[in-house]
Amino acid sequence: MLETQDLTIRFGGHVAVDRVSCRFAPGTLTAIVGPNGAGKTTYFNLVSGQLPATSGKVLLNGEDLTALSAPLRTRKGLGRAFQLTQLFPNLTVLENVRLAVQARHGVGLRMLSVWRNHRALIDEAQALLDRVRLGSRADALAASLPHGDQRKLEVAVLMALKPQVYLFDEPTAGMSVDEVPVVLDLIRELKREGQHTILLVEHKMDVVRELADRIVVLHQGQLVADGEPEAVIASPVVQNAYLGIASEVAA
Ligand SMILES: Nc1ncnc2c1ncn2[C@@H]1O[C@H](COP(=O)(O)OP(=O)(O)O)[C@@H](O)[C@H]1O
Ligand SMILES: [Mg+2]
Repeated sequence: MLETQDLTIRFGGHVAVDRVSCRFAPGTLTAIVGPNGAGKTTYFNLVSGQLPATSGKVLLNGEDLTALSAPLRTRKGLGRAFQLTQLFPNLTVLENVRLAVQARHGVGLRMLSVWRNHRALIDEAQALLDRVRLGSRADALAASLPHGDQRKLEVAVLMALKPQVYLFDEPTAGMSVDEVPVVLDLIRELKREGQHTILLVEHKMDVVRELADRIVVLHQGQLVADGEPEAVIASPVVQNAYLGIASEVAA
C-alpha cells in the first residue's frame, strides 16, 4: 500500500501540492487528472523523492520513506516518474536496460560467476526489450532512437527495476498514433499481472475510462475528487477540470 499523508510542497509563496492525503492499493490503477499546472508531476516527484516535501509523509507498506533519497526509494519499490528522461544517451539501448537490471539484482548477483552474471543480465534485458517491441534496436545508441522509441525504452528501464509502484506521467505524450497502443498495452499487461500499484497521469479521457479503477482529481495542488471513474467524471468539479484539460489540449 502506497500512502501520502498531508503531502505538501511550497515553492516560495506558491503551494504546488497542498496537503494531499491518499492511499493506493496493490492491484489497482489510479488515474491522476487535472488541468495543466494542477500539481500532478510535482506530486509524483514528491512520491518518488525527486523533490523534498515541505511537510507531510510518503509511506510504502507502512514504512515512512519521506526522509529517503530517490535512489533509496527506488530500492524500496517506488518506480521512478517519467517526464524526466533518465536514459544514458551514449550507451546502447541494451546497455541502458542491463544497467537497470543490474541495479535491481545488486548484491545477490555477485555470488554468480562473472560470465553467468553477465549473460543472465543481458538475457533479461533483451527479453524486456522484446516486450516493449525494441528487440531489434538493442545495439542502437539510446540517443539515436526516435522520441517514441525512447519513451518505450524508458518503460523497459522502469520494468527492469521491478517496482511495486509504477508512476506513469503522460507516458504517451508526444508519441505518434501507431506508437501509443504499444505503451498502453504494456500498462494493461502490468495491470493484469495484478500485484502492482499503478498511478497514471493521462489527459486522454478515453484511455482513463478504459484503464482506471479509480480517478483522483488534483486542482491547484489540492485533491478535489476521488472515486469510481464514472462517478468522478460526471461530477461538476471534474467537468470543470476536464474543460481545463480540453482547452489545454486545444491550445
Ligand atoms: N521546481 C519548481 N520550482 C517552482 N515551481 C514549480 C517547480 N515545479 C513545479 N512548479 C510549479 O508547480 C505547479 C504544478 O506544476 P506541475 O506539477 O508540473 O503540474 P502538472 O503536472 O499538473 O501540469 C506549477 O505552477 C509549476 O509552475
Ligand atoms: Mg505534468
